[in-house]
Amino acid sequence: MSEDVATKWNGRYSAEGVQWQTSPPRDLLLSFVDRLPASGLALDAAAGVGVNGLVLARRGLHVVCLDVSEVGLRLAREQARRENLWLETAVYDLSHPWFPPACFDVILNFRFLERATFPMYRRALKPGGWLLFETFVRTPETHTDVDFYLLSGELSAAFADFDVLHDEELTRVNGRSGQPKSTAQLVARKPGDLD
Ligand SMILES: C[S@@+](CC[C@H](N)C(=O)[O-])C[C@H]1O[C@@H](n2cnc3c(N)ncnc32)[C@H](O)[C@@H]1O
Repeated sequence: MSEDVATKWNGRYSAEGVQWQTSPPRDLLLSFVDRLPASGLALDAAAGVGVNGLVLARRGLHVVCLDVSEVGLRLAREQARRENLWLETAVYDLSHPWFPPACFDVILNFRFLERATFPMYRRALKPGGWLLFETFVRTPETHTDVDFYLLSGELSAAFADFDVLHDEELTRVNGRSGQPKSTAQLVARKPGDLD
């Protein structure tokens, strides 16, 4: 991760923080939230302003939000404080992740890709823990930052030995650019017999 990434996102959240805070949580999370545990510890990875992590905090989970943007994380903390929710934050570079084994009940990874997190998510989930992952997939139109795009099928393959509850790749026309955007969605639980 370069310094530029943190600077870019700090600038965006300083300028457009309210827009990010008022944008809805991911539909994928909302469609599974009632099935998630209502206590325990959750990670919102690359949380931004924390709109998704806050959903889990409202459900009753203790939530740790990690991101390189201290501006986004401050907005997440301020919202949690207003609602009296348990949510902690840390400025953290997920391109060099390390998490202890079997510590999280739920991990969220939305609109962010760092392949080094895959083995860490696998190890950091408790047996039975939930992974909710959604991010962009490379298409023939993708021309920038290709490292930030999944290959088709890559996400499913990385967690093929999990208990998969939802696995889908979708293409929608982006409202702003008019270009098709593809995303991969995965909801999966870590089996009891995996380390
Ligand atoms: C498109 S936003 C997604 C935010 C949030 N997950 C959501 O869906 O609303 C991408 C986020 O990734 C964060 N990010 C980028 N590179 C990162 C890295 N190496 N480690 C941690 N966070 C990073 C950015 O600061 C930004 O908040």
